[in-house]
Parts: sequence; C-alpha cells; structure tokens
Amino acid sequence: MTRDEITIADLRTVPHFAADVVDRVWRAWWKPRGFPLKHIANLVRDNLGAGPLPSAIVAHRGPTFMGTASVIASDMEERPHLTPWVAAVWVDQAFRRQGIGGTIVGHAARAAFAAGADTVYLCAVPTKRPFYQRLGWSLHEQDAGDHGLDVFTLKAT
Ligand SMILES: CC(C)(COP(=O)(O)OP(=O)(O)OC[C@H]1O[C@@H](n2cnc3c(N)ncnc32)[C@H](O)[C@@H]1OP(=O)(O)O)[C@@H](O)C(=O)NCCC(=O)NCCS
Repeated sequence: MTRDEITIADLRTVPHFAADVVDRVWRAWWKPRGFPLKHIANLVRDNLGAGPLPSAIVAHRGPTFMGTASVIASDMEERPHLTPWVAAVWVDQAFRRQGIGGTIVGHAARAAFAAGADTVYLCAVPTKRPFYQRLGWSLHEQDAGDHGLDVFTLKAT
C-alpha cells in the first residue's frame, strides 16, 4: 500500500481512528439531540469487541480519516425484528462525490453477510433514496418510524 491509496478497513485493524468515528457520528446524529460525546464513545468502543458485530468500517488515506459506516443490530426502534443494519454512513466533506460513500456502504454490507446475515437493512431520509438504489439496495418501506424514513434491504448474493 502506498500512502496515496484509499484503504477501507475494519476499525479493529485501525483503532487509532476510533476518536474520528466518535467525533463524526456524534456531531452528525447525537449532538443535535443533546447526547453527550461519552454516550457515542461507548457505542463506538463496542465495535472493537471480539464478536463480528457490531462493527465499524473506516475509509482512510494513510493517516487521514475520510469516512465511516457501522453495522449494528438495530437502527430503528420501531422495527426491532429487523437485523442487522448498516448505519451512521459518513464521508468527510472534502472527500465526497468520489465513490467513497458507496464503497464504505458495500464493505459494511459484506461485513454483515460475513457475520451470517442473509439480508441487511438500512434507513435513510427520502432525499438519499437515489444514492442507495444506485448501490443496489431495494426500497422495503417508506415513511417508517417517527422520522418518516425509507427502509432499504440488500440481500446476500
Ligand atoms: C451520503 C454520503 C455518505 C455520500 O458519500 P460520498 O462519498 O459522497 O458518496 P459517493 O461518492 O459514493 O456518492 C455520492 C454521489 O456522488 C456521485 N459520484 C460518485 N463518484 C463520483 C465521481 N467520481 N464524480 C462525480 N460524482 C460522483 C454518486 O453517483 C452519488 O450521486 P447521488 O448523490 O446522485 O447518488 C455523504 O454525502 C455524507 O457523509 N453525507 C452526510 C451524512 C449522511 O447524510 N449520511 C447518510 C445517512 S442516510
């Protein structure tokens, strides 16, 4: 690997990026709802456990963090029977629209399949629908839960 190459890795193999994952996920989804940083720090630490899930994917170029996604048991409390989910998909602004988001989502889904799932779920605001459909995800449900989200599925091939 040269330092110019983008690497997609399991957070377990690059745990020094855990603070970046915590920072991005907290700022994007938890801070606006009043949760302390420590809350998400504990959730991200769970991705370093011995079992295959939960897990986090990191995109980086050498020492530069670029993006992340997670595979977690549940991402929508109104749909507790659906599991596992790809969640917390994030690419830093400077690196967007280069295909990194799509690549991270694909890696996260494959991590779920490798852990034994035959279907993986993902929820998103409807404006993100073209992005996930282009990646091969199927719309499973619209206007789901309190936030009116799309629910997508992807099946192992
Ligand atoms: C959503 C998000 C993860 C996408 O990350 P990304 O790295 O820009 O994703 P990609 O580059 O794979 O695809 C994004 C778009 O760029 C396009 N694209 C990909 N490679 C491209 C290239 N080389 N040149 C131009 N456009 C390109 C894709 O077709 C896609 O278009 P679409 O938005 O019309 O579907 C990113 O915008 C983000 O972090 N947003 C904030 C958090 C968020 O909303 N997360 C999703 C929660 S559901």
